[in-house]
Amino acid sequence: MTTDTTESRTAGSGAERAGGGLDIGGLHKALGGRTIIESLDMVVHPGELVSLLGPSGCGKTTTLRMIAGFLTPDAGSIKVGGREVVHLGPEQRPSAMVFQNYALWPHMTVAKNVGFPLKLRKRPKAEIAERVDAALELVNLMHHKDSRPARISGGEQQRTALARALVQEPELLLLDEPLSNLDAKLRVKVREDIREIQQRLGITTVIVTHDQEEAMSVSDRIAVMNNGKIEQFSTPAELYSAPATEFVATFIGSLNRLEGLIEDGRVVAGEGVIGIRPEDVVFSPDPHAGGVAASVQRVVPRGHFAELHLRRADVELRSYVTGAPPAVGAQGSARIAKWLEFEDGRLVRQGGQA
Ligand SMILES: Nc1ncnc2c1ncn2[C@@H]1O[C@H](COP(=O)(O)OP(=O)(O)O)[C@@H](O)[C@H]1O
Ligand SMILES: [Mg+2]
Repeated sequence: MTTDTTESRTAGSGAERAGGGLDIGGLHKALGGRTIIESLDMVVHPGELVSLLGPSGCGKTTTLRMIAGFLTPDAGSIKVGGREVVHLGPEQRPSAMVFQNYALWPHMTVAKNVGFPLKLRKRPKAEIAERVDAALELVNLMHHKDSRPARISGGEQQRTALARALVQEPELLLLDEPLSNLDAKLRVKVREDIREIQQRLGITTVIVTHDQEEAMSVSDRIAVMNNGKIEQFSTPAELYSAPATEFVATFIGSLNRLEGLIEDGRVVAGEGVIGIRPEDVVFSPDPHAGGVAASVQRVVPRGHFAELHLRRADVELRSYVTGAPPAVGAQGSARIAKWLEFEDGRLVRQGGQA
């Protein structure tokens, strides 16, 4: 990946598709005698940003390390830009990784850190200097070129690590929990920056995160992982509106989860599991508005909306309301406008009521 034909890319010359796609098939990995990744398949299109999203310990980092070449799978294929790379070491692969802890050299300046992968590849000094400058421009860090990592902020360290990956002009950019060491406010800014740079370069990107909001806000598609398997690989909107499994439905967004089934708008005992998004529970202060009689137990202000804890005759539900919320103790009615029905953990039906 140090061929001269790719030279102008980090200069941000436009929205050309720099990335090759990623095609993973039958990936398997056991560690410590335990299966960690079980026959994982995934296709990431050129220029796409995909998140691997799942709870801690589900195998996200293990998967990313196999894609990057730091860990050898027991079986499976990993193709980047159509080329098999599974037998190659990390240096030989057309990918670059940003590690969760950034892994910066404390004794090197920002510029030296960023240039290090090129030095390893024995690129000429002048070329390294030029490419380091271009990468630092890209992440807005030129003014810290000569600073050491300890003297810059967490966000700037993160951008240094990103520049060190981008300087390699990879076809595939891999980031492991890139925002986990940043405070909440900075996290939003940095994730927007990452998305902006990713789109400007058109670079195929895989981000590992356990944070659903983060994944939803930057990804073209999200692979939701659970226990070493991908439960669903879809757009953020589809994961939310049509989760394939109960796990995905509860992991993405908020959900009222009830055992039973819905008959004539009421929840009755039954075999299945019902999932209802809080925004699909419609509270009305008019007891005769339709639905089932309900009282407001609790009101939790959530900024531009409020979360109501409702007690209906049949069940307790959380509901979101925008505008002025009712008072605690208010009596009214609550209607379930939309719901999801699961059997054996899988979505079998979507119900709705006008
Ligand atoms: N070197 C190892 N030896 C044994 N088990 C490991 C090793 N590395 C990771 N694991 C286990 O593999 C599982 C997945 O880990 P990891 O991929 O780091 O999860 P995630 O990044 O999703 O939090 C965890 O249960 C972890 O304890
Ligand atoms: Mg991890």
